[in-house]
Amino acid sequence: MTRAAVLAGVGSYLPPRRVTNDDLAAAMDTSDSWIRTRTGIRQRFFASEGMATSDLAVEAGAQALKSAGETTADAVVVATMTPDRPCPGTAPTVATRLGLGGAMAFDINAVCTGFVYGLATAQGLITAGTAERVLLIGAETHSSVLNPDDRSTSVIFGDGAGGVLLRAGEADELGALGPTVLGSDGEGADLITVRAGGSRQRLSGSPPGPADHYFAMQGRAVFWHAVTRMAESCRAVLERAGRRLDEVDRLVSHQANLRIINHLADELGVPRDRALVNIDRVGNTGAASIPIALAEADAEGVLRAGEHVLLTAFGGGLTWGSTVLTWPGLQRT
Ligand code: UT7
Repeated sequence: MTRAAVLAGVGSYLPPRRVTNDDLAAAMDTSDSWIRTRTGIRQRFFASEGMATSDLAVEAGAQALKSAGETTADAVVVATMTPDRPCPGTAPTVATRLGLGGAMAFDINAVCTGFVYGLATAQGLITAGTAERVLLIGAETHSSVLNPDDRSTSVIFGDGAGGVLLRAGEADELGALGPTVLGSDGEGADLITVRAGGSRQRLSGSPPGPADHYFAMQGRAVFWHAVTRMAESCRAVLERAGRRLDEVDRLVSHQANLRIINHLADELGVPRDRALVNIDRVGNTGAASIPIALAEADAEGVLRAGEHVLLTAFGGGLTWGSTVLTWPGLQRT
């Protein structure tokens, strides 16, 4: 019997402030038609005044625990590029607020690939015997770093959180995580950034450039990197898992742009209707995007027990990664 990390629960949370494309068009030089045709996004949700990433993460984490029928976890991992504060990590706060104080707790920053990196980390903790149950949450409050003067990023990103509870189990169980393929390319570090606030460009001393504490992305340059890297890692992980592309029932990719999701499906030869899409309703929620899509699809009965699911993400760093699992039958919460 081979010890494995088994997905046992999912949850998600979207903050209350719904922002439509028309709302954005009232504040900046853009239009509903540009945003819909270039990205597929119709609306997104932003945190209310005073709401931080941990507030979103706690809600999603509580749902994931409930869906797994668990009240405890030995580890809480939060994947985020928008932590409550640069120091300390957000995960210890989330753990304590969920009644899991004392559990190991740390953050992962692999930007939009953070959730997939987190799955590999959780899998490692479980298979090594370091943890029996890991609560992994992807959570972002992008609205805290969006530049109101940059229409190319402000219209894409949304806030939200999604989480999964992984427990120790057997490799042949439904829900067991398969192999994971991860990668990075620091040559592309400047393509997706928040320049100031770290040790390279400090907030203390000389003031940063006027927009350097905001998120910035060279979207056009990133677009084809995203399609190519996700396609390569999908092929690599399927090969490692001994599965074929025509066996993929559901392609769950990071929700970066509907055109990227469609290009990826076409590139892989996976019918587009097998790709989960919720970017129209939530925008690009970074590290939260895959678990939000999983939680919504599970709640809607779109994901069914026994389906072969391929997860893939791409993000700043540059980073990318993919993994596979067979969807388990989860309790509805
Ligand atoms: O999640 C992490 C990974 N991120 C991604 O994978 C994102 C990848 N990139 C993208 O999704 C797309 O590149 C964007 C959605 C960011 C941009 O779409 P695009 O089709 O690549 O547009 P573009 O940047 O090439 O801009 C086309 C035109 C430009 O005008 P000109 O120079 O052709 O006159 C932009 O100024 O669209 C203009 N534009 C806008 N117009 C109206 C850019 N943003 C907007 C806007 N509203 N919000």
